[in-house]
Amino acid sequence: MTTARKLLTALSVATLISLLGMGSPLLAEDLSDNETCLECHADEPRAAPDNPDMPRIHNEDGSFTVEDHEMWSCIDCHDMITEIPHPEGVDGQAVNCENCHEGTPTME
Ligand code: HEC
Ligand code: HEC
Ligand code: HEC
Repeated sequence: MTTARKLLTALSVATLISLLGMGSPLLAEDLSDNETCLECHADEPRAAPDNPDMPRIHNEDGSFTVEDHEMWSCIDCHDMITEIPHPEGVDGQAVNCENCHEGTPTME
């Protein structure tokens, strides 16, 4: 990380904390910006899917197993995430592959 980048990250985290503190609905975070998500989710290991027949989407470090998935917003897949802090019950909710694929891809 460059110094400028670190400064930006520190600033945006500070902004987020102050926004949460004020509970301001006017200055909501941009949910379609992956950096918003990664402020909290960057250093968390990603588990493999519960169903062993499903292709894995994230590598354990949070990167993508398939290059075609890199360009999307996190919320193109995690469309249950509609607010920060998240609504109740988002934990363990499945991503609907059929939002983009015809049928659910499986391991060949
Ligand atoms: C301020 C910190 C914060 C930000 C920013 C944030 N999250 Fe979260 N997220 C959490 C916490 C804490 C949990 C676990 C508790 C909960 O369910 O609310 C969570 C849970 C989740 C889960 C469920 C994980 C599981 O175990 O099934 C997903 C998926 C997720 N977040 C995606 C996102 C996406 C996508 C974004 C960006 C739009 C985002 N988060 C932004 C803090 C954050
Ligand atoms: C192409 C769809 C897709 C995109 C894009 C995507 N995810 Fe996921 N994510 C999934 C699926 C599916 C899972 C369930 C585990 C798996 O299959 O790898 C998951 C799991 C997670 C979890 C839960 C990890 C755990 O082990 O409990 C978090 C947190 C998460 N993703 C965050 C993100 C963030 C942040 C982004 C954006 C940088 C993102 N995801 C982009 C499909 C996606
Ligand atoms: C936001 C859109 C989006 C979602 C949601 C999504 N994908 Fe994809 N995925 C793509 C695109 C685009 C490609 C590249 C073109 C193609 O293969 O259809 C791709 C390619 C793949 C590939 C590479 C092999 C192939 O079939 O081309 C696999 C495997 C895959 N996706 C699995 C999944 C799984 C499993 C899920 C659900 C957990 C999922 N995807 C959800 C957009 C998405």
